[in-house]
Amino acid sequence: TVTFKVGLLGLGTVGTGTAQVLLDPTGRHPLLQEIEIYQIGVRSLAKERGINLPKDILTKDLEAIVTASEVDIVVEVLGGLEPARSLILKAIHHGKHVVTANKAVISRYGDEIFTAANAAGVYVMLEAAVGGGIPVIQPLKQALSVNRIQAVTGIVNGTTNYILTRMQTEGSDFNAVLADAQKLGYAEADPTADVDGLDAADKIAILASLAFGGRIKLQEVYSEGIRNVSQADIAYADKLGFVIKLLAIAQRTPSSSALSVRVHPTLVARSHPLASINGVYNAILIEGEPLGQVMFYGPGAGAGATASAVVSDIMNVAAVLKTKSDRVQTQFNPLLACSHQDYC
Ligand code: NDP
Ligand code: HSE
Repeated sequence: TVTFKVGLLGLGTVGTGTAQVLLDPTGRHPLLQEIEIYQIGVRSLAKERGINLPKDILTKDLEAIVTASEVDIVVEVLGGLEPARSLILKAIHHGKHVVTANKAVISRYGDEIFTAANAAGVYVMLEAAVGGGIPVIQPLKQALSVNRIQAVTGIVNGTTNYILTRMQTEGSDFNAVLADAQKLGYAEADPTADVDGLDAADKIAILASLAFGGRIKLQEVYSEGIRNVSQADIAYADKLGFVIKLLAIAQRTPSSSALSVRVHPTLVARSHPLASINGVYNAILIEGEPLGQVMFYGPGAGAGATASAVVSDIMNVAAVLKTKSDRVQTQFNPLLACSHQDYC
């Protein structure tokens, strides 16, 4: 029995990974049997997709998907700012729950989107927007929310970590490795966002907003990418016992009266836990009181990893809708509870 219909916007790296999981529910969580793709919105109907899709499931009419009465959850994996932002807002205004992997839209238009979602009484889920397959958004909203967070320090861009790792271990050329990262589906459609630290800035703005409460504006995040990291820098760092990592950092200042939020290449001592995070892997180290330190680690980009996060968001929403329709529980929803209203 199909209970929930998903309108999927985008069938690129992430959309294809997501469709593959949704179309193959056997052996996964039983709730997946109750979730079906309604239609998939793309730019080109002629493109070879390399995946078996039900007949006539593709459409170029994305507006029709987000307004269709049959659709319960809209999944936005288009990338870019527009039409992603407008379609998300339209979906919300039509009472659809939204799952997105789009950190660029959330970091810039989070206010507008969450205000609209709160008014419409729908959920906006963004686990895939930070850390690819690593569950970090949901833990920050729930399991860690009791803590006073002191710092969030992460390797949150898979493409640049992949490039730096190969430059470090193989002496590879920057542009050649970037081309490989693009082929592997790690990079953004415009890889400038990865290389210049802008993607990591989007992600740390989101993490910091969740970890510290309030809204960290993207314009307030200092960002510097890896374009100027040379083989000579890597060799000197190595001699001194360091590796170079693109770190995204959000930390309270010593007086705790302000936050410092920034992205830049950093010398990381070889003994530090972030020094051994290599390739497309990401890691996010969270320090808080009374917790101490916890580190989340896993594949930070790519179809399968990101699909895992997207589909878990879809399932979380479906689980809540199911519970509500069963009238078992309507007041407090532990699955989506959040101490920071903005990102709930
Ligand atoms: P891709 O470029 O691979 O895919 C984008 C998809 O969206 C394509 O199917 C494209 O259609 C469709 N699309 C884009 N613009 C339009 C439009 N105007 N109208 C209709 N269809 C459109 O992107 P990714 O899958 O890599 O990334 C998607 C999102 O997920 C981004 O926000 C990205 O930041 C995020 N993300 C990506 C990760 C990754 O590892 N790649 C990991 C985590 C998040 P067509 O195929 O016809 O061209
Ligand atoms: N381009 C991004 C990265 C995708 O390389 O980390 C995952 O958000």
